[in-house]
Amino acid sequence: MRRVRLIIPAAAAALVLGACGSEGIEVSEDDPLREGAVLFAERCSGCHTLTAAGSQGSANRSQRAQGPNFDQRKESYEDAIYAIANGGFSGAIMPQNIVVGDQAQAVARFLEEYSGKDVEE
Ligand code: HEC
Repeated sequence: MRRVRLIIPAAAAALVLGACGSEGIEVSEDDPLREGAVLFAERCSGCHTLTAAGSQGSANRSQRAQGPNFDQRKESYEDAIYAIANGGFSGAIMPQNIVVGDQAQAVARFLEEYSGKDVEE
């Protein structure tokens, strides 16, 4: 899917990606965690639900590729980094290294802060 968009002239592609990437994100523009939220919306929302990133990817659990709902599951920074590098905890379904380096850290920091909002403490 993403590959097809690359054929679109750069300006138009940026508009399309910008529009669908940041829609529904609940992290404000000046929050340092915003970058992680945008990356999550772009790269992870197809398979994971997380309200703070405006994503509903876990909605259809009948599809095997759907990952855990992060409104209902709290992830630590370390677990998020591990899952990103290894493709989840099983390594079976989630692609490895969808984000790397600084971007992986940004997503993990965002996930640690915003995941588990529906979990009763
Ligand atoms: C193609 C679908 C897909 C994409 C894209 C995807 N994931 Fe996953 N993810 C899964 C599935 C399925 C699991 C559960 C199975 C497993 O752990 O191997 C999972 C598991 C996880 C886990 C472990 C959750 C737990 O507690 O068991 C974390 C953390 C995670 N994903 C984070 C991310 C992040 C961050 C991104 C974006 C950079 C992302 N995922 C992109 C499908 C995906």
